[in-house]
Amino acid sequence: MKIALIGNGAIAKLVAEFCATRGDRLNAVAALGLPSDVRSVGNHPIVRSLPELLAFRPDLVVECAGHSAVAAYAAPILDAGIDLVIVSTGSLADAALWDTVRAAAARSKGQVKLPAGALPGIDALSAAKLAGLASVTLRSSKPPKAWKGTPAEKTHDLDAIIEPTVIFSGNARAAALTFPKNANVAATAALAGLGFEATTVTLVADPGVTQNVHRLEAAGAFGAMTLEIKGNPSPDNPKTSHMAALSIMRLLENEASAIII
Ligand SMILES: NC(=O)c1ccc[n+]([C@@H]2O[C@H](COP(=O)([O-])OP(=O)(O)OC[C@H]3O[C@@H](n4cnc5c(N)ncnc54)[C@H](O)[C@@H]3O)[C@@H](O)[C@H]2O)c1
Repeated sequence: MKIALIGNGAIAKLVAEFCATRGDRLNAVAALGLPSDVRSVGNHPIVRSLPELLAFRPDLVVECAGHSAVAAYAAPILDAGIDLVIVSTGSLADAALWDTVRAAAARSKGQVKLPAGALPGIDALSAAKLAGLASVTLRSSKPPKAWKGTPAEKTHDLDAIIEPTVIFSGNARAAALTFPKNANVAATAALAGLGFEATTVTLVADPGVTQNVHRLEAAGAFGAMTLEIKGNPSPDNPKTSHMAALSIMRLLENEASAIII
């Protein structure tokens, strides 16, 4: 299976390394990067445009670049009839982009595949939805310094925080739009469960944590569940959970396997 990547960063590196361990079953053929992506993170070449990437005739494209890449490339990839994995799920909180992606997927023979990313329990949440969900809440805690470079800097003195401090409380759409680099998990929970408006999100700066801690709670006809992950950072990007790349590897493993789990 030929895999094309969009992005040449931490996730792309881990995914390419994983493909290399799977021999002919998964082959990373090329990556689309920005001009700043000079050296490839894998053994595949970097290209500068979508037509160049699609010239490799990939079976599946993995977006691991950021929101702008989803906006620029999702619809044309689907219009080419190719499956697309979107890891920057927070981009889909933009209602216009979501409509565009949905329409392109509906008319394409390719599918949009949304990995669980850094969040646990997405399989259970989307299964529970089939019987009806009553509530879904997500609490994401990170060390105060992890919120630097976000709107939290304007509302809080991050260096002075000495106890768990809520920096955002609202629905998943507002979380993803306000904290685009930090709320992919909120968007994934919303897409799997109750939607962007009805999913409640709390973002916390917590000096007591060293990892990214996501606590997902859901209740409905199935019963109730609480799932918590303390995610280690990716080896090459402290802002990305290692689990995000692992969830893509699992997705690709399933794509290329006779048995899916
Ligand atoms: N779903 C999740 O739980 C989850 C978790 C972590 C990260 N993510 C998403 O994954 C993305 C990638 O993470 P990473 O750690 O590999 O980031 P990174 O910063 O290490 O790498 C991003 C790469 O994408 C490239 N890029 C950016 N915009 C581009 C564009 N428009 N076209 C082509 N290339 C572009 C950059 O040059 C860089 O090579 C993040 O931006 C984030 O949106 C999702």
